[in-house]
Amino acid sequence: MSNIFDKIESETTTSKNIFKNKIPLDHRYLPNKLVHREEQITDIAKIWVDALNEVTPSNVTLYGKTGTGKTAASKFASEQLKDAASNKKVRVEVEYIRCTDYTTEYQVIAQLCQQLGRDVPNRGWTKGEIVNTFRDILSKRDVFGRKITLIVILDEIDILLDKDGDGILYTLTRTDNVSVLSISNYLDFKNLIKSRVTSSLNDKEIVFPPYGADQLSDILSERAKLAFYDDVLDDDVIPLCSAMAAKEEGDARYALDLLKNAGELAYDDDSEKVTGEHVRKAKDRIEFNKVTEIIQTLPLQQQRLLEAILNLTKNNEEITSGKLYEEYQSISKKDAVTYRRIFDFINELELLGIISTNTISRGRGKGRTNIIKLQCDEELLETTLFSI
Ligand SMILES: Nc1ncnc2c1ncn2[C@@H]1O[C@H](COP(=O)(O)OP(=O)(O)O)[C@@H](O)[C@H]1O
Ligand SMILES: [Mg+2]
Repeated sequence: MSNIFDKIESETTTSKNIFKNKIPLDHRYLPNKLVHREEQITDIAKIWVDALNEVTPSNVTLYGKTGTGKTAASKFASEQLKDAASNKKVRVEVEYIRCTDYTTEYQVIAQLCQQLGRDVPNRGWTKGEIVNTFRDILSKRDVFGRKITLIVILDEIDILLDKDGDGILYTLTRTDNVSVLSISNYLDFKNLIKSRVTSSLNDKEIVFPPYGADQLSDILSERAKLAFYDDVLDDDVIPLCSAMAAKEEGDARYALDLLKNAGELAYDDDSEKVTGEHVRKAKDRIEFNKVTEIIQTLPLQQQRLLEAILNLTKNNEEITSGKLYEEYQSISKKDAVTYRRIFDFINELELLGIISTNTISRGRGKGRTNIIKLQCDEELLETTLFSI
C-alpha cells in the first residue's frame, strides 16, 4: 500500500483550493492590527506608559462579553509595551496568566517567580514563603541596577472568584511595583469580590462593547485575506457570518468560527467556493458540537441547573436567580448545593456561552436582579440532557 499521508497530502494540494492557511482563523492567532479597538488599546497604553518611567501603573480592569477582543487587545498592548521598554532600556515584565490554567494563589505566584528568573518549587512551600520570595524579587533592583516593574494580566478572572481568587488579587495589589490588568466577562464581577480587595484594587475600567455587524465584517475580511485563496468566498459569506455573530452579542470568536467551519464544509463537499449555504450549515454544526460537548462534560449539579433553566424556559418564565434556585432544588433534592454556589455555576455556564445573564434594576432601593436566558437550542439541549 502506498503511504497514506502522501496520498492525502497530494489530494489536498492538488484538487482542493479553499484554504491558503488556516492559522489566522484560530482563536489564538494574534493579528498585527486590531481594527475597531484603537480606543481601548490607547486607553491601556495611557495607563501603562508610566512603566516606561519606572512608575508602577494603576491597575486596570477590562470588561466585555466573550469575543469582544479583550484578550487580543491586552496581548497586543503588552507586545507594544515590551518593545518600547526594550528601546528605553527599562525593565518591564508583562506576564499573561489565564486563570483557567492556574487554580491556586500558590500556583500563580510560583509561576510569576519563575518568570522573573527565581527557581521556586511548584509545591511544598507555604504560601507565606512563596509570597515573601515574590516580594523579595520585586523589592530589589535587577543585576543591571534597574527597577523591576511587573504587569500581571489575569485573564478570565471570573473563574477564580469561587476559589481563592480574591487572595491572588489581594497579594498582587499589595506588592510594590506590581500592576494588575484583570479581564472579566462579567460586569458584576466587582460585586463578587470582597471589599478588602476592591479597596486595594483601586482600578481604572475599560469597557469593550460588542461588535456590530460592520465591524465584524472588517475583522473577518482581514483574516479571510490571509486564510483563503482569492475569490473562494462568495460575496454573501462574510456579511452572513458577521450578521449571525452580531446577533450572538457581537462575538468575534464566533464570527471566525463560522467562517472557518464554512470553509471546512466547502472543502469536505469538494466545492470550489464557500457559499452562504455553507455558512448556515456551519452555524448548525457549531451549535451542535458546542452544546453536546460542553453539556456532556459538565459536573452533575450544573447539568441539573441546566435542566432547571430548560424547564423554566419551556414554561416561558422570566428566569431570576431565585426562581431558578427553587426549580433546581426540586430537581436535585437532597444533593442540592447552596444558593451561593449557584451563582458560580451561572457564571461558568455563561462563560461557556450556553446561557446569558442580564442585570436589570428593579428601581430604587429594590436592588438588581439577574435575568437568565438560554443561549442554545432548546431541543438540542433537551436531547443531550436526556441522553446522559
Ligand atoms: N478588533 C479585532 N481585530 C481583529 N481580530 C479581533 C478583533 N477583536 C477580536 N478579534 C479576534 O476574535 C477572537 C476573539 O477575541 P478575544 O480577544 O479572544 O475576545 P475576548 O477575550 O474578549 O473573549 C480572537 O481570535 C481575536 O484575535
Ligand atoms: Mg478572552
